[in-house]
Amino acid sequence: MPAWLKDAVFYEIYPQSFYDTNNDGIGDLQGITDKLDYVKSLGCNAIWLNPCFDSPFKDAGYDVRDYKKVAPRYGSNDDLVKLFEKAHELGIRVILDLVPGHTSEEHEWFKKSCEIERNEYSDRYVWTNGAFCGIGGHPYIGGEAERDGCYMLNFFKCQPALNYGFGKCTEPWQKSPDAPACIATREALKDIMRFWLDKGCDGFRVDMADSLVKEDDENKSLTGKIWMDIKEMMDKDYPEAALVAEWCDPGQALNYGFHADFYLDHWGNGYNTLIRDYETEGGDHSFIKKDGHGDIMRFLDDYLPRYERTKDKGYISFITCNHDTPRPARTLSNKELKLAYAMILTLPGVPFIYYGDEIGMRYLNVKTKEGGYHRTGSRTPMQWDNSDGRGFSCASKDKFYLPVDDASDAPTVESQEKDPSSLLNEVRRLTALKHEYADLNADASFEVIYAEKENFPFVYRRGNLIIAVNPSGNTCSADIGILPLGAAPIYSIGESSFADGKITTAPQSFAVYKKA
Ligand code: NOJ
Repeated sequence: MPAWLKDAVFYEIYPQSFYDTNNDGIGDLQGITDKLDYVKSLGCNAIWLNPCFDSPFKDAGYDVRDYKKVAPRYGSNDDLVKLFEKAHELGIRVILDLVPGHTSEEHEWFKKSCEIERNEYSDRYVWTNGAFCGIGGHPYIGGEAERDGCYMLNFFKCQPALNYGFGKCTEPWQKSPDAPACIATREALKDIMRFWLDKGCDGFRVDMADSLVKEDDENKSLTGKIWMDIKEMMDKDYPEAALVAEWCDPGQALNYGFHADFYLDHWGNGYNTLIRDYETEGGDHSFIKKDGHGDIMRFLDDYLPRYERTKDKGYISFITCNHDTPRPARTLSNKELKLAYAMILTLPGVPFIYYGDEIGMRYLNVKTKEGGYHRTGSRTPMQWDNSDGRGFSCASKDKFYLPVDDASDAPTVESQEKDPSSLLNEVRRLTALKHEYADLNADASFEVIYAEKENFPFVYRRGNLIIAVNPSGNTCSADIGILPLGAAPIYSIGESSFADGKITTAPQSFAVYKKA
């Protein structure tokens, strides 16, 4: 386990929308390097960079055409190495996005694999033996290649599935994960990882990490075996590099060698009930909503078993949002965002802040771009200043990758820098708190102190810190017993007090007390 993860606060950067330095309207690596001081000022000491590799961009770069080449629109491999170096000087780690389950249909491996003559890449992807048969209920394409077969898709039409084998082989074209062709796929993946790790990257966020072995992969144990093999390489040669899964089952992912796994916004799961429960009937019941009548037990019933399963093995990663999820500012007020982030940054695990969430960037209603569809509204350019282009780029606005938020009250870094009570400055104070107290480390102890169905506040303990959050519109108290707490909170949003074993919290407040 890389020790640095304990105190890591990640910042997710979507490269095309962050900062454009060559005035083509698309963000670039130089732009990210130029803004590293800003990332540091946020208290983020790690970055997850969405795919920045050569791609036809039919899925915004998750359709990789060349894993070893930076997309020219972002710069060059040297620019990425410079980014790593400058980040490291500032004490910031950089993890790249690794897409192991599929490539672009324009990847050289795939082109070779479409050929009639057998070659090294014929079995690199999942192909059937005939162009007219289906592929066991999976999405597939037939009739596009000279080769007489259908190939399996892993996501969009442009993303053929790489071949890591099948759990049970019932068709002649299916291979076992131990077949030489499937081992070759795995070795090719390791080769890509080594390529970037040797250039200075600090690990990977792994796209659809659970999607490798197809069918009859009970508990994903065969896919897990592949990751454990990869982890062996990492432990031996890159022990400081982090592996963060997009698996969304931390109990499983951590057993298979990942250091952390995301708690994604899946309808009805604990994370969803905290800040994103606006799709159930009868309004928004998110715990953090002032008028949502939220119920912390809905969160805890889902979260606590996950936490118990993972606490000695690695970390659950809470996110403010990501590039696939509607921005939290779509439904939460500024105050609610502060409380949500306060929880995300003080619960166990490794938190991720999505670029722009620190200023409460809005979800915009914009036309789909590069396979984004509804996700596109969360991918708009970063709002740096109050100029027309929001400081994202000097290109004319019609060349911008996506439209900027040009509402007169659009949040910007420039405005919020000047306002001590801004969301941006709250995020900075929260990350500073997290770094100051080892009790808020990813692996520091956690215990629920007070949690009552449809009652507030929710009180929990991290090490010697007692944390209370009251998102409701009422003053609420909780009897927490005779804990010897300091008289004043060490951190607060809104008023609170502690006396005679009772914490009293003002409407929409958050407080951290230290044991005396
Ligand atoms: C998950 C990524 O987060 C998403 O953006 C992408 O479209 C799919 N995986 C396919 O790679």
